[in-house]
Amino acid sequence: MDFKQIVSHAKEYGFIYQSSEIYDTLAAVYDYGPNGVELKNNIKQYWWRSMVQRHENIVGIDAAIFMHPKTWKASGHVDAFNDPLIDNKDSKKRYRADQLIEEYADKLEAKAEKEIAKAARRFGDKFDREQFVTTNERVVRYLGDKDAVLKRLATAMKNSDLTDLKQQIEELEIACPESGSRNWTEVRQFNLMFSTQLGNIAGEEGKLYLRPETAQGIFVNFLNVQKTSRQKIPFGIAQIGKAFRNEIVARQFIFRMREFEQMEMQYFVRPGEEMEWYEYWKDLRLKWHKALGTPGEKLRFHDHDNLAHYANAAVDIQFEFPFGFRELEGIHSRTDFDLGSHQELSGRKMQYFDPELEKSYVPYVVETSIGCDRMFLAMLSQSLQEESVPDASGQESTRVVMKLHPAIAPIKCAILPLVKNKSELTEKATAIFNDLKFFTQCQYDEKDAIGRRYRRQDAIGTPFCITVDFDSLEDNSVTIRHRDTLAQDRVHVSKIEEVLRDKINMESLLRSF
Ligand code: GAP
Repeated sequence: MDFKQIVSHAKEYGFIYQSSEIYDTLAAVYDYGPNGVELKNNIKQYWWRSMVQRHENIVGIDAAIFMHPKTWKASGHVDAFNDPLIDNKDSKKRYRADQLIEEYADKLEAKAEKEIAKAARRFGDKFDREQFVTTNERVVRYLGDKDAVLKRLATAMKNSDLTDLKQQIEELEIACPESGSRNWTEVRQFNLMFSTQLGNIAGEEGKLYLRPETAQGIFVNFLNVQKTSRQKIPFGIAQIGKAFRNEIVARQFIFRMREFEQMEMQYFVRPGEEMEWYEYWKDLRLKWHKALGTPGEKLRFHDHDNLAHYANAAVDIQFEFPFGFRELEGIHSRTDFDLGSHQELSGRKMQYFDPELEKSYVPYVVETSIGCDRMFLAMLSQSLQEESVPDASGQESTRVVMKLHPAIAPIKCAILPLVKNKSELTEKATAIFNDLKFFTQCQYDEKDAIGRRYRRQDAIGTPFCITVDFDSLEDNSVTIRHRDTLAQDRVHVSKIEEVLRDKINMESLLRSF
């Protein structure tokens, strides 16, 4: 399904609404509806249990959103958490200069891909992609230009060279997508942190920030947690929580939001052992994604060209969203930058005494950081499909189905009396529902013809529908319909939980990788 269809499906079926819609919405802020909150909670549970429950050396915390303002000085966010901003004087629209250049590079790649696809069609089975990419004059030029643009961009970003960014925009003749003009302002740095004011202190002294990442709540609590949980290095601290960034260009639905949720884990290791753990977490995080059924070709690693101020290695796990491969999760080797900076600015020791080495040191940190909303979007875009299936009368018809992994589906099973106005059927179905609701998230639905009710459940990803029919009154059995295969099994009421348990529970998913 295309991106537009995904966005409207998310609203129509109660997954995501734009914030404050009755007031014409607030840009880049979203609310999760009844099905959305279930899916989001399941994603969070999957992440939490795979980190905290599966690893005896990872513990969780829930730190406050507000932190002492010095936190953000030490972390580098006050000085360096900037995006290069540029305005178009005609449309008055604001853009990220780096993104304008990246989009230009994307267009070069798209041109090359178009040539490649054309040739693939022409040559059929005999097509050798690698040979074509390295010898076709036009493709070589497009890809070469793309690499040169991205390389120059990386250097300018690394050196915070705003003049060169502007120069590139001019040289590449990039026009404003809105006005079509090239009437640009200079490039300026724009700090992404939202600030607010403490009630009882005036001026700069009382300035507070809404955290732009959850990680700092973990760093400042490192010793509290280590001592109270008696962990030995290597160990990790996990956290799920809100983060806020005043994104200049917040587009693509919940991909880039101003208020979002992160699932972050900091793994504290001995200095010198960080690359080993970096590789370990890269591997495990990829397995975590694949265990949900995400095909390997939709995921890829992308090494950072431009390392953040705190990192000595960094990679993104990119997912193929409907608008292309983009960052879904970041894995960063953050060295001892954060603990070291907090130690310096607070004057408090952030050291760990290693009993095996018999010495103290500031640990190094490997971080895994994934946006919960981005993961949600990945799951929506991957699972939502339109397909042709036989309807109740055997005719082919189109259905929209969300093929979510059952363990994260918002509703695990729907209980449906075959017809509504037969009180014996509705009574029996209600009794089954009233029992199963203690077992898992269920929905009772008696409105409309059975085929329409199946479609409604398909559209929200319910893996199982339980139909209570007239035979059920005689044999105390029901029909279980499987969302993906449409197979139907006849099962005794007393066996429903047994049949569903392995398929819908998180435990099987957690054991699967
Ligand atoms: N603590 C490290 C950190 O915050 P990041 O790469 O800036 O690193 C980590 O963010 C993850 O948070 C990203 O991979 C993405 O999934 C998510 N994320 C970042 N900015 C976001 C935004 N504006 N909206 C939604 N998710 C965002």
